[in-house]
Amino acid sequence: MKTEDISPAIGTAVHVEKAALRDDEVARRCLELLEARGVLVFPRIGLNDEEQLAFTDKLGARVNFTSRVPGGNKSAQDVYTITLDPKINTEPEYVLGTYFWHMDGLTSPIIPPKASVLSARTVAPKGGQTEFASSYAAYEALPEEDKKDLEGLRVIHSVTAAVRAVTTPDALDATRRNMSHEHPLVWRRQSGRKTMLIGYTADSVVGMSQAEGRALLARLLEWTAQPAFTYRHYWQVGDLVIWDNTGALHRVVPYAADSGRRMHRTSVAGAEAVV
Ligand code: OGA
Ligand code: MN
Repeated sequence: MKTEDISPAIGTAVHVEKAALRDDEVARRCLELLEARGVLVFPRIGLNDEEQLAFTDKLGARVNFTSRVPGGNKSAQDVYTITLDPKINTEPEYVLGTYFWHMDGLTSPIIPPKASVLSARTVAPKGGQTEFASSYAAYEALPEEDKKDLEGLRVIHSVTAAVRAVTTPDALDATRRNMSHEHPLVWRRQSGRKTMLIGYTADSVVGMSQAEGRALLARLLEWTAQPAFTYRHYWQVGDLVIWDNTGALHRVVPYAADSGRRMHRTSVAGAEAVV
């Protein structure tokens, strides 16, 4: 296994034979790297669904928190197809929501998924690059005074907020319209490192006025999305990218519904309760 860092704060390319992904030691090293580097890129490794699920299982417990959204049906068996193709996805709102910085699974009453695993099946001729921003690096670099101000704050993450930029709440079914979950803004990990649970799903800060809360969330998001903390992945067919969903935000550069872009995503369950 050969590795090379691809941007200073986030992202490492991993060059390894496909067959080696079945190896316990390789999986262990990948988890270690993921913790340290936030994003792992396996260029053109070309996994099929079965191989992607097998590697996902090596990294932890598999989770499917999108079973009720299009593409997340039973036959897809924990593999979620991301596409804007209207023949496959009849409810594009949730995929359009991925144009905006977010972490996966923050609006559900679950521990946030530890990692998301995404592979490129068909790439868009224009757009469709995925960007990642390290919320570990961003928090670390905040002025001490700002860190103090964030202590103890709690944030409500909701589906309505997640799709606010792309649709209105009445376009959602009642379940999703009312789906929200409260998280600490700053999450101190067992490792001692601190991350921020922010992004477009973040709707309000508990105990603050809407204006004050949203202004704070917007400022923190702008801070985190600085080039110094980010990496943009230009996909090639067969690329596999894994990111630490608890220490990085992500979003995709817009692409056309008829671009043919199709990605397959699997998720690794969160293992560390949010406190
Ligand atoms: C996701 C996601 C972005 C992309 O899989 O959770 O936000 O590049 N995907 O399609
Ligand atoms: Mn996502």
